[in-house]
Amino acid sequence: MLRGLFIIFLLSSTVSSNQWNYGQLGPDIWSDYYPLCAGNSQSPINILTACTKYRNLKPFQLTSSYDEKHYFTLRNNGHTVIGIINQEYKQSPLVIAGGGLNGTFEFVNFHLHWGENYKSGSEHQINGIKYAGEIHFVYLNRLTSQMAVLGIFMQSYADSEAIRLDENDKTRQEWQRYFDITQTLKSENDSTVFNLNFRSLIGDNLADFWRYQGSLTTPPCSEGVIWTIFKQPIVFLETQFRTLRDNIYFEDYRGPQPLYNRTVYRNFHNETLSSIPDYNRCLLDSQNEKLKDKSLVFGLIHCSTHSFFLFLLCFYSLIIFAVFIFFKLRYSIWKKKFE
Ligand SMILES: *[C@@H]1O[C@H](CO)[C@@H](O)[C@H](O)[C@H]1NC(C)=O
Ligand SMILES: *[C@@H]1O[C@H](CO)[C@@H](O)[C@H](O)[C@H]1NC(C)=O
Ligand SMILES: *[C@@H]1O[C@H](CO)[C@@H](O)[C@H](O)[C@H]1NC(C)=O
Ligand SMILES: *[C@@H]1O[C@H](CO)[C@@H](O)[C@H](O)[C@H]1NC(C)=O
Ligand SMILES: [Zn+2]
Repeated sequence: MLRGLFIIFLLSSTVSSNQWNYGQLGPDIWSDYYPLCAGNSQSPINILTACTKYRNLKPFQLTSSYDEKHYFTLRNNGHTVIGIINQEYKQSPLVIAGGGLNGTFEFVNFHLHWGENYKSGSEHQINGIKYAGEIHFVYLNRLTSQMAVLGIFMQSYADSEAIRLDENDKTRQEWQRYFDITQTLKSENDSTVFNLNFRSLIGDNLADFWRYQGSLTTPPCSEGVIWTIFKQPIVFLETQFRTLRDNIYFEDYRGPQPLYNRTVYRNFHNETLSSIPDYNRCLLDSQNEKLKDKSLVFGLIHCSTHSFFLFLLCFYSLIIFAVFIFFKLRYSIWKKKFE
């Protein structure tokens, strides 16, 4: 009895609000404390481009308020730095519509996920490829309580392949301001108020995207989230990621979850396939299915048209098979009668 109580006490004391991280209490055991994390509509996923289905989804519309500077509260929440609209300023809301979403969605927060080097950190993967990071813009439809997350990949290059980047790029300049300020938020609950231009942050490559139904990528992993993953990444410098890794957290991303029976849609026509055959397998599978169907029909046609002799052979084997089945049935009925 006492022992049981002790175990209950132990359990309840460990199930506090923050029983997860990206280390010892990492993504693989989140479901120990947060059972929803083992659901079958979880995020992120590995998007197999060969398996996506085209769907005609309208482009996203951003309100004009995106052109204004907004004051955000940036706070280290113990897992990442999260940005919410600062309520002390009177500011017009950041709203999106279109993109195949039902109604208008209001901005809730934005935050980043990143990893240990320039080839890991994004939560979603494209044919098994990870980017250096992923930006999440979280939105909510206040009428339907539908949550929608827009994900934009953050690309980075090894120092050795340092590419020439346009220094006047508005998007990267704005993110540089963001990196400069966030690197000061080293400890949990450190926060600051800072203004940012959202149009610049979000960039202008919102044309092509993937769409699927998923979940929050952090506990409690609640499902029912509409995901939009944009095809075009924003290019960053490896030094910018280093300020995150060195000052905030080393890494903070969850790996891809099983797709189960979900379909990933794309809003653009021509999908690029993987150079690794494994990742195109679903395409091969569906092609093989079709081939199998065809081969059965073609086999019969072939059989009956190739030569008269083959036709007879097919015909007689069919007759013999039918007679066999007939007598087998008769026999079992007859046997039952006498039992
Ligand atoms: C879209 O949202 C409206 C409420 O704004 C709701 O009545 C309707 O059922 C929703 N449609 C779909 C397809 O979810
Ligand atoms: C941060 O704030 C939360 C809520 O206010 C609190 O529960 C938590 O203990 C704080 N963390 C630290 C490290 O102070
Ligand atoms: C997927 O499976 C779940 C549960 O098994 C079911 O509720 C859902 O309707 C299925 N979705 C599709 C698209 O088949
Ligand atoms: C997409 O593919 C179709 C047919 O394969 C081709 O005619 C069309 O030009 C392609 N469009 C783009 C934008 O590449
Ligand atoms: Zn996120």
